[in-house]
Amino acid sequence: MATSTILSLTDQIREEVTCDPIPSAHGHARLLQLVDELKLAIETPTETVLRLIYQPPENAALRTVVDLGIFPLLVRDGQKDGLTATDIALCTGADRALIVRLMRVMSALGLCTNIEPEIYRPNEKTIPMTQPLGQDGVPCIYDLTVPTLTKLPEYLREHNYINPEEYTSSPMQWAVGQSQFEWLAKKKRHQALFNSYMSSRREGKPNWFDVYPLERLIDGASSHPEAVFLVDIGGNQGHDLGRFVSGYRSKPGRLILQDLPKIVSTVDRTGIETMGYSFLDPQPVKNARAYYFRAIFHDWPDHICQKILLNTAAAMDPTYSRIIIVDFVLPDTNAGRMQSAMDIQMMSIGAGVERSKRQWTELLASVGLRINGIWNFSPGMESIIEVVPALGAPVNELD
Ligand SMILES: C[S@@+](CC[C@H](N)C(=O)[O-])C[C@H]1O[C@@H](n2cnc3c(N)ncnc32)[C@H](O)[C@@H]1O
Repeated sequence: MATSTILSLTDQIREEVTCDPIPSAHGHARLLQLVDELKLAIETPTETVLRLIYQPPENAALRTVVDLGIFPLLVRDGQKDGLTATDIALCTGADRALIVRLMRVMSALGLCTNIEPEIYRPNEKTIPMTQPLGQDGVPCIYDLTVPTLTKLPEYLREHNYINPEEYTSSPMQWAVGQSQFEWLAKKKRHQALFNSYMSSRREGKPNWFDVYPLERLIDGASSHPEAVFLVDIGGNQGHDLGRFVSGYRSKPGRLILQDLPKIVSTVDRTGIETMGYSFLDPQPVKNARAYYFRAIFHDWPDHICQKILLNTAAAMDPTYSRIIIVDFVLPDTNAGRMQSAMDIQMMSIGAGVERSKRQWTELLASVGLRINGIWNFSPGMESIIEVVPALGAPVNELD
């Protein structure tokens, strides 16, 4: 433990908090980074290794606690006095001794407090575990990914450490028999959890149109009543487009939601047209102002992304239409933990990729497109990439 490093980091944290008491998005990200560095500086190397080794049982305990519905119980009944392990056992039907063991992990993770023996009180981190983000996100992502992740080292060994680049022979296909979207399509409950998690995972964060200067699309948009302003491709059940409708009441043109027929068949949202469509087929909506893809390309290897992009480019008016991509743009050095982990997850469940700016540039260039600008609210969040045909509008490179 290097005392000088620790003191320097605590000074930087103090300075960050003092100069920026209500931290900006970038300040917030910097503070988290400093805290991670501080923890590493304080931990002995052995402690770091042990912390990493014992992460999987934490996730398994969390998945079980969500399954048992313990967080909603804590929030409902435990505001003042908390719930005892016996109370929780009675409500859930699980053994008291098991509850004690599981809740020990939850309090160590900071998801509740446990200041008296076998009594658990909710805290501010308990609340999101009772909302779709935690309640649906934890079981969905655990069940979707963990069976494959446990076998990933074996898959990579057996495949001579070749970078997975085929959706149809992804690690998940090998480990479980299906890649992510086929697996979800066969599991009604998990598809519902996935849809709910998709719509909740950016709660409290700015919308893409709060970060991207929307006037770039609004100025010059056709006012013809049939003109399509935006197509949200792979937009799931329209949660993102719904926010756009609420945020922009003066609708600049038709808004179309596209996803697989099974996903959009029941969607009925005011101001939004829905269309069952696979982006592996030619895009039927021609000459829209914007073709919008959020969290789509990271699901797929390059050759599928090329297919999706070519299908889109063929429908675009080369000087009028834009592609808007919302996905991570990984930095070339010191990528964050979540983004790096997501890359491994996307690789596992469908040979997908989180891409750096160089990878995006190369992918887009391979189909005659180019980046016209990149906007980012915070290093921890996805960027917004404006894309045009390579010989289209003038370059306005922002970063
Ligand atoms: C990671 S989710 C992103 C959803 C939404 N864009 C968001 O950001 O919340 C990927 C979406 O792609 C859809 N999808 C998968 N394969 C598709 C295909 N071939 N054509 C159209 N949509 C597809 C899924 O149904 C899912 O809604």
